[in-house]
Amino acid sequence: MIEQQIKTAIRDIHDFPKPGIIFKDITPILKDPELCTQINDAFLNKIGDLQIDAIAGVESRGFLFGLSLATRLGVPFIPVRKAGKLPHTVNQKVYELEYGQATIEIHTDAFNPGDRIMIHDDLLATGGTVTATSQLIQEMGGVVAGFSFVVGLSFLKGLEKISPISSNIIVLADY
Ligand code: PRP
Ligand code: MG
Repeated sequence: MIEQQIKTAIRDIHDFPKPGIIFKDITPILKDPELCTQINDAFLNKIGDLQIDAIAGVESRGFLFGLSLATRLGVPFIPVRKAGKLPHTVNQKVYELEYGQATIEIHTDAFNPGDRIMIHDDLLATGGTVTATSQLIQEMGGVVAGFSFVVGLSFLKGLEKISPISSNIIVLADY
């Protein structure tokens, strides 16, 4: 069962990055190529015949499985980056964090209007990052076809935040 395999591999790091936080460290998954393949298999299986024109992965941990998933699907990968990293012309979105603000950017020519885009990240916590990503994609004329995550932290209510955007939500290992 993929959920149990992911949970067995993930390492809990207490008090990282600050006191009181239990960080879900996915790096042991990356040391296991067979498990990485099974994770991509599980995503493909759950995506089924959903029409997806591109995968948008959120910097930085959303790049890890985002590109391999896009490659397996045979569709383009769209890097969603933190401000100032993309070299070509960009569209950007400023969004609120628990403390302060963050900005994400996408290249203006990353996709075509009407493209159906699945947003991928390693982990769903509050849902703030992927909600901002959804808004940026929609402002650029894209359609959010769904979301995919390796890990979800249910107690942070991210699913409730993103389900109005798309009901196609894949979470392989839920806590
Ligand atoms: C983490 C994680 C998700 C996001 C989830 O990224 O990889 O991208 O937070 O949080 P949210 O659902 O509350 O928005 P982080 O900002 O730590 O950066 P990283 O991926 O570059 O490590
Ligand atoms: Mg991240």
